[in-house]
Parts: sequence; C-alpha cells; structure tokens
Amino acid sequence: MPFTYPDCIRKLYESESNGEKIYSALLRAAKGERDRYHFATLLQLESETKARLQPFLFKYGVAYSTPDIQPFVDGAVSLYVEHGWQALMAASRPVVQKGIAEFEAIAAIGLAEDADVLQGMVRHEKAILQWVDAELAGSGDDSLRAVIAELAHPIPRDAGAAGERGSDAGKHAAC
Ligand SMILES: [Fe+2]
Repeated sequence: MPFTYPDCIRKLYESESNGEKIYSALLRAAKGERDRYHFATLLQLESETKARLQPFLFKYGVAYSTPDIQPFVDGAVSLYVEHGWQALMAASRPVVQKGIAEFEAIAAIGLAEDADVLQGMVRHEKAILQWVDAELAGSGDDSLRAVIAELAHPIPRDAGAAGERGSDAGKHAAC
C-alpha cells in the first residue's frame, strides 16, 4: 500500500515502539554479559529514537501508536533462547531490510523541512543492519559502532558485569 504523508510518519514511531518491546524482552532473556550489553544498546537506540519522534508526530497531529506485538516479541525471544544468537541475527536481517526500504520510501515523499529527521531514520535502520551483518560475520564488539554513534546516552560497557559481581556500583544501579 503506498504511503501518504504525513500519516505515514506513524509507521516510524511504531517501528521504534516495536523495537523497544522486542529488545527489552530480549534483554530480560539475555544469556550473558555480552548479549545483555548488545540488547541494552539496541533498546537504548529504539528508546532515544522514539523520544525524538514524539515532537515530530505532535507537529502534524499524528497520534502516537504503540501496537500490541506480543506474539512477535514472544517469537523473537523463543528463537533466541532455543536457537541462539546467530539464529536471531539471521531472522532479524530481512525485517531490518524491510524497515530500510519503508523508511526510504517515507523519506522520498516527505517535506524538505523534515529531511533531517526522515534521513536520520534511514541512517538509524542502516546502523542496525550493520550490527546484524557484522554479528553474522563474527566481527565482534565493533559491530555496534554505527549504533553507538547514533546514541546521545550510550550504555556503559561494564554495567551488567558490575551488577552480576554484586559490587557497590552494581548494587547502586539495581536500586
Ligand atoms: Fe528502530
């Protein structure tokens, strides 16, 4: 179905709301420190981007929409828990590619005055694809470089480990 502007910007917001739900559920299911850090960083990306979109929707009087995607969330968690990290990355790739195509289509029909936020959404989704592709290629922690570059408030690398060690810092963070 073709997009109409500005109604289609609701889709951008829904994408971030969905991402928050998926990565927060994966964060709760994380199997170790590395996975926890990656899921927390992706959750931060989705949350920050959703917050940045709220004034944009308000500008056009487009209602904030947070769809119920619990079956999809449950499926993602089950895939990760039962089949592991690489299976989750492989399943994520076509979803992220579809997001890039949709965001590019929205940016193509958007007003010039909105180009920054619309192109920012394309860059956001491409950062996630870089993470997925680097993880599939086994590239290590540098996989998050483009995602972290998008963040105003990056997740501290060792926070989860501090909590697991029961250090003062971890206890403080758990309050
Ligand atoms: Fe997103």
